[in-house]
Amino acid sequence: MGLLRFLFLLTLQLSLFTLSSQATMTNQSYFFSLMNQTLSGNSLSRWNFSSVGVSDSYFCNFAGVGCDNRGYVIKIDLTAWSLTGYFPEGVCSYMPELRILHLGHNHLQRNFPISITNCSLLEELNMTHMNLSGSLPDFSPMKSLRFLDLSYNRFTGDFPLSLTNLTNLETMNFNENGDFKLWKLPVELSRLTKLKRMILTTCSIYGEIPRWIGNMTSLVDLELTGNFLQGQIPAEIGKLKNLQALELYYNQHLSGEIPDELGNLTKLTDLDMSVNKLTGKIPESVCKLPNLRVLQLYNNSLSGEIPRVIENSTTLTLLSLYDNYLTGTVPPNLGTSPNMMGLDLSENRLSGELPKQVCKGGKLLYFCMLQNLFSGEVPENYANCKSLLRFRVSNNRLRGRVPDGLFSLPHASIIDLAFNQFEGPIGKSVGSARNLSELFLQGNRFSGSIPPEISRATNLVKIDLSNNNLSGPIPPEMGSLRKLNTLMLQGNKLDSSIPDSLSSLKSLNVLDLSNNLLTGTIPESICELLPNSINLSNNNLSGPIPLSLTKWGLEESLSGNPGLCISVYPNPLEQKFPTCPKLHSRKRVNHIWLIGISVAFVIVGIALFLKRWLGKDKGVAKHNKTLSSSPFSYEMKSFHKINFDQKQIIESLVEKNVVGHGGSGTVYKIELSDGKAVAVKKLSTRKSKVLTPEDHLFLNKELKTEVQTLGSIRHKNIVKLYGYFSSLDLNLLVYEYMPNGNLWDALHKGRNLLDWPTRHKIALGISQGVAYLHHDLLPPIIHRDIKSTNILLNAEYQPKVADFGVAKVLQARAKDSSTTVIAGTCGYLAPEYAYTSKATTKCDVYSFGVVLMELLTGKKPVEVEFGESKNIICWVSCKVETKEGATEVLDKRLSCSFRDEMMKVLRIAIRCTSRTPAHRPTMNEVVQLLIEADPCNFHSFKSSNKVKEPSNETKTKNSSQ
Ligand SMILES: *[C@@H]1O[C@H](CO)[C@@H](O)[C@H](O)[C@H]1NC(C)=O
Ligand SMILES: *[C@@H]1O[C@H](CO)[C@@H](O)[C@H](O)[C@H]1NC(C)=O
Ligand SMILES: *[C@@H]1O[C@H](CO)[C@@H](O)[C@H](O)[C@H]1NC(C)=O
Ligand SMILES: *[C@@H]1O[C@H](CO)[C@@H](O)[C@H](O)[C@H]1NC(C)=O
Repeated sequence: MGLLRFLFLLTLQLSLFTLSSQATMTNQSYFFSLMNQTLSGNSLSRWNFSSVGVSDSYFCNFAGVGCDNRGYVIKIDLTAWSLTGYFPEGVCSYMPELRILHLGHNHLQRNFPISITNCSLLEELNMTHMNLSGSLPDFSPMKSLRFLDLSYNRFTGDFPLSLTNLTNLETMNFNENGDFKLWKLPVELSRLTKLKRMILTTCSIYGEIPRWIGNMTSLVDLELTGNFLQGQIPAEIGKLKNLQALELYYNQHLSGEIPDELGNLTKLTDLDMSVNKLTGKIPESVCKLPNLRVLQLYNNSLSGEIPRVIENSTTLTLLSLYDNYLTGTVPPNLGTSPNMMGLDLSENRLSGELPKQVCKGGKLLYFCMLQNLFSGEVPENYANCKSLLRFRVSNNRLRGRVPDGLFSLPHASIIDLAFNQFEGPIGKSVGSARNLSELFLQGNRFSGSIPPEISRATNLVKIDLSNNNLSGPIPPEMGSLRKLNTLMLQGNKLDSSIPDSLSSLKSLNVLDLSNNLLTGTIPESICELLPNSINLSNNNLSGPIPLSLTKWGLEESLSGNPGLCISVYPNPLEQKFPTCPKLHSRKRVNHIWLIGISVAFVIVGIALFLKRWLGKDKGVAKHNKTLSSSPFSYEMKSFHKINFDQKQIIESLVEKNVVGHGGSGTVYKIELSDGKAVAVKKLSTRKSKVLTPEDHLFLNKELKTEVQTLGSIRHKNIVKLYGYFSSLDLNLLVYEYMPNGNLWDALHKGRNLLDWPTRHKIALGISQGVAYLHHDLLPPIIHRDIKSTNILLNAEYQPKVADFGVAKVLQARAKDSSTTVIAGTCGYLAPEYAYTSKATTKCDVYSFGVVLMELLTGKKPVEVEFGESKNIICWVSCKVETKEGATEVLDKRLSCSFRDEMMKVLRIAIRCTSRTPAHRPTMNEVVQLLIEADPCNFHSFKSSNKVKEPSNETKTKNSSQ
């Protein structure tokens, strides 16, 4: 009886199971067709629904799907299937046994699918790189969760503290997420005793790193980079015996000393605490760690010596300690580790000789020792550092001859020996430096002639040999350096004529041959290049000045060549250059007098400049003293030779001359006595109040950025800064005047509609200006506030980029390309910038993309009609999903004859504003793409009865590559 009953019950249970299993199969099947409906992407065609019915659990054979032996789905992995649409709700109601859900690297622009939290058996949830936004739900029901990866999304709201309930959690990755509200690490986190990987990079955490973190002894990887942590690093971290990676960089406010206890972390391989305010010495215990591969402590206030024990490490691959106050000598055997790949000790106060063994391992790629007090010679064996990509020792006290082989390192792209006391010749072997793109030897005592072999280093982009003792000719062979962009040979004793062959340097952008002994005439062919900056002053050049050079207003860069003359009548520059061939003796006297004045002017300017800026950080207090309190006593500097009378300018700072109010001050248009107009920006100060020291600091900073940045730049698409005045209560910047105002007004308020060719010209011009900042300057400059109000238009509607008040000079080397101050303007800000406050050149590309969209649509970056999202990028990207929509976004007031070209530009704009910085093109690429979309080329092609002259843009395009 008992047995029968048992069998009966068993059968019943089995059939019930079969029934419920049947239902589950149907449910699971249903969820697959649901996914097939709500998601789209070609990869889904891999799911062959035609096998439906062949078996109940047909989907178990689907790509990315895993089942247990009963046909229950336990795994769905759609990683990187290029899916769009959305993930349907209710996954675990249909698939009750799901353990693994991987949906990363798909663009499902929606909120987090809340019902996933019902998956109480789910162990792995990977939703990295999914473009999800909105706030996160309560995760408490997901008791089984072990791996949670929500990195690279845009979540906002409160950080989900419910995670502290998930005691099985082993990995928590929130790397690079949106904009959580500020939060502190709660003590409940220490309940997660199984947690191995806690990755909370840029998650808006503030406060101190708590001591109880030392109880989370399972931790292998602790990453708290890019938050707002402050205070000391707790010694308790030393208790995390399993820790392999500790990443605390870029918190900016972690202070105090590095605890000795970190030396207990014997498994540690990566330690990065850069960009903080750490003080004291680098603990010896840390340098002794047996497994340490990466030690990065750059950009702190560390002092003392580099512990000598670090030279014994056999595991070290990267040591980066730049920008601290380290003193003493470098451990003499540093770099002997067989895996040493990078060594950056720049910007410290290190002295003594360079370490001799750095290349022993044969893998060294980066050797950067800039700006220290190193002395002695470059060790002979450095010539064997064949693996080097960068060799930089500028701004030290190194002397002697440079080992010949150093010039011919086969892989090196940068060799920088500038500002030392090196002597002897430049090695002929430089010709075999096939990958060399930048050669900096300026400010040394190199002598002999420039080896003609240099012309075989055909990848050279920048050559700076200025201010040495070089003599002999400029080798005509240099004309074959097709990629050359910058050639600086000023301040030597070069004594040939200017070789004609230089005119084949089609990419040349900066040419400085001033202060040499060059003779002969200026070759007419040079003018075809029209580099953005050319300086031939103070040589012995003679004969007629090529006409185009006079037209381009370059007279100042020809001064100091008494033999030069103007062969046009009437002589437009007779104040400066005599007429050829006859010279009036009185004119010559005038001329010499003029040179005298100019030289005096320049000397005074330089003296003031040095006085002002050499003091640098410690100089604020000192600097205030140099300013007199009288309103008519000014510090001033002039970058261009233009006469301005301070008094006249100050008297013209009246209401009727106001032309605008910029972010940082009021702008006036002022007519000078010679009829020329200038724009004067008065940096704002608090009204009717004496400046506080903080104000002064701020103004100084603002002034300093703008002056430093702009004073040194000459590019046709960047506004010219003529000079500045500064006194205790007034800071004035004098610019060239731009009669057509700013682009915002021209587009949104202008009475005249700008046609597409003009708008294209404006777009191209801006891109060339910005490309120059990003790619042609060393160090590059990030503008950080590109927007239509900062684009000024001259009489021909050539655009010029203005307002460098917040520009950031990127440090060369891969250094810290990030900045602390959030600059920029709403609507133009790149998303990553808004939450990581890291400025990169790609942020500028993004802002430029917004300006492009303004040019294309004629709309402002933020308008009511865009609806909920209220921003031009969302509006455009929604519209362009359909072909009709794409034409709809284009400015309807424009003629449709340029539609194809405008569509091309629209595609560029969309790429520039891609959410992922890596997907955005570089500014150089943008220039190229815009040239390809040139409406004028297209038109001249269509109506080809006229031969079109190359426009200025196309000419300088070459030179800015
Ligand atoms: C899956 O989606 C494709 C494309 O939308 C559609 O053609 C197909 O009928 C769908 N199959 C099922 C079973 O829903
Ligand atoms: C999530 O998926 C990505 C892409 O496949 C992978 O790189 C990452 O390691 C996964 N995260 C976890 C926690 O397994
Ligand atoms: C943890 O779970 C409990 C029970 O579900 C809940 O009451 C509590 O709010 C959760 N804690 C957090 C921080 O969400
Ligand atoms: C951390 O561990 C110590 C020693 O085991 C213990 O006294 C302390 O209460 C723990 N702290 C927390 C927050 O769990």
